[in-house]
Amino acid sequence: VEVDWSLEAAEKGGFPHYMLKEIYEQPWVLENTLGGRLREEEGDVDLGLALDPREVERVHMVACGTAAYAGLYGKYLLEALARVPVEWDVASEYRYRDPVVDGKTLAIAISQSGETIDTLEGIREAKGKGARTLGVVNAKGSSLTREVDEVLYIHAGPEIGVASTKAYLAMLAAMALLAVRFGRARGTLSREAAQGLLREMRKLPRLVEEVLEQRPLVAHIAEKYHQAQDFLFLGRHVQTPTAYEGALKLKEISYIHAEAYPAGEMKHGPIALIDEHLPVVVLATRGPLYEKTLSNIQEVRARGGKVIAIATQGDEEIAKLAQDVLYVPEVHPLLAPIVSVVPLQLLAYEVAVLLGRDVDQPRNLAKSVTVE
Ligand code: G6P
Repeated sequence: VEVDWSLEAAEKGGFPHYMLKEIYEQPWVLENTLGGRLREEEGDVDLGLALDPREVERVHMVACGTAAYAGLYGKYLLEALARVPVEWDVASEYRYRDPVVDGKTLAIAISQSGETIDTLEGIREAKGKGARTLGVVNAKGSSLTREVDEVLYIHAGPEIGVASTKAYLAMLAAMALLAVRFGRARGTLSREAAQGLLREMRKLPRLVEEVLEQRPLVAHIAEKYHQAQDFLFLGRHVQTPTAYEGALKLKEISYIHAEAYPAGEMKHGPIALIDEHLPVVVLATRGPLYEKTLSNIQEVRARGGKVIAIATQGDEEIAKLAQDVLYVPEVHPLLAPIVSVVPLQLLAYEVAVLLGRDVDQPRNLAKSVTVE
């Protein structure tokens, strides 16, 4: 046996790639993001922010790439739990579209590095127009943290893999924290409802650990589908950003073309792509829109498409419809994305490894994009 004593091997902690190491760090990362902040007794969270959510009339999410998808999740959560309208677009659009901003606008910039130029410029644009600003950031002391009024750190630790994984999970958790705080402060979320959510959030590290145990099954599915030319990812409501992120991970590191759609939009175009060569990954965890998503799966099957379903543990019905099922543990439907994206990260990883790609340094991509 050859032992690799290099510094790099040591830094990877026994994993062949940083990306895999970072995927496996996620239970610990969630502890870090959520840990000291949950106040189950009061049904609230302590974020140490001076900002008064009652003074906010609208929120603008400003971010790029994976962080932007975390922002989209934040939009669904803030609207559901705190009834505050949220506008979302990628920072490169936001900064140039002359957004309508005033003193009651809170611009939230989300960034792992805190150095992404479009995100920084987006937040400068909002600030210049009088918005209050909040940074949801991983890198301590980064440029973004110096430009915003306040910072909510996600505490994911250093992320080396170019394709973001653990920072995404930490960003999702931070969005959940913000939405609970806003909902409580604005009186739209009862103490009991908040307590229920916090109890579920407390379980997340353990649930993500359970998902990681499915890696052999994910590897088997990757083996089946890694020759595909294209993948389609579908999801609804909070699982729409999960679909986007799953497709992004796959294209970033495997170079397979992948696109994601809100499942209800499938019939307005992407359905034309479906044939026996197209794997369709469907986020079909239990929740208010579960039945609707099941009909989407039936529509895909009726056209010969191959369905890989991400479903809730115990859902046997779905195994009759989909070719392959990856189960995730049951959790509050609004938190399901936090467990559901993990098998998609693993799927992208396993496919990329099978195709011999450079997982940690994918071609043409940079960890942080600091020039326009
Ligand atoms: C680059 C990275 C992505 C990242 C995006 C935003 O494109 O390759 O992984 O999601 O920048 O980065 P940020 O540091 O602002 O979260």
